[in-house]
Amino acid sequence: MDEFTALIQYIGQTLQIQCGNYKEDYIKRRLLSRMRSTSMSNYAEYLKYLNVNTPELEILRKALTINVTEFFRDPDVYEFLKDVVLPDLFRRQKQVRIWCAGCSTGEESYSIAMTLSDLLLENKELSARIYATDIDKVVLARAQEGIYSQKAIVKLSPAQVHRHFTRLPDNSYQVRPHLKELIRFCPHDLMSGVPIAHRLDLITCRNVIIYFNEAQKDELARLFHGALVTDGYYIMGKTEYLGRQAEHLFAAKNPVQKIFVRKD
Ligand SMILES: C[S@@+](CC[C@H](N)C(=O)[O-])C[C@H]1O[C@@H](n2cnc3c(N)ncnc32)[C@H](O)[C@@H]1O
Repeated sequence: MDEFTALIQYIGQTLQIQCGNYKEDYIKRRLLSRMRSTSMSNYAEYLKYLNVNTPELEILRKALTINVTEFFRDPDVYEFLKDVVLPDLFRRQKQVRIWCAGCSTGEESYSIAMTLSDLLLENKELSARIYATDIDKVVLARAQEGIYSQKAIVKLSPAQVHRHFTRLPDNSYQVRPHLKELIRFCPHDLMSGVPIAHRLDLITCRNVIIYFNEAQKDELARLFHGALVTDGYYIMGKTEYLGRQAEHLFAAKNPVQKIFVRKD
């Protein structure tokens, strides 16, 4: 076994991150960056270092699962969600089920919950459940806690902050229970081949598959297709695209915002 293979096997066993599913050059770039920071000159040395240096395992996990996110990332997507997607779903039924896949520290799922909350307030018969998942249990714990710095909420309107957050003594802001109640946070690996639930009305998986290889992207598109109801929505990241093998599974509803519906 070569040094690189030994290292990614070790990462698979200890961090449960299956590097083979990601683009190889992406994994190599991340590993090389950690090797530079720890002054290790090759994969074998870095593997030895990981074996005796537990904190580095945590740092590596972070480096491999980039968690950058923000509230209402790409505001146009949320406008479309509010004006078109959610009204369309609530015309079909009273309860809407959403999967926010690769939710990181929770900003995306809480942004969806804030968007939903206006509609739910107007009509008490309507309800919603958001499954928010991530492979990284550390970010998921932060999402569940729902505490954000002043900087993180700077783009929210004063009305949104007032309604959905409680200011804490240290000037951070905690999401209020009425938003949290809409969301169930669970660990989930998108490469496991199993969806978090079936008969979903909307899946958002944004800025996650940029790190996946082509085969994995196609497999995930098939997984999402199987987990959605007919005409259910799939929202990708703005710079992401459906692979050739998956194009026939979805019809573009808003090609600029990368919003699709499931075709049968
Ligand atoms: C850049 S963040 C995107 C967060 C959010 N969706 C957004 O658009 O702002 C990517 C997230 O995908 C998660 N991720 C990476 N590989 C994953 C996998 N195989 N299964 C589930 N989540 C994964 C990472 O842990 C990270 O939190």
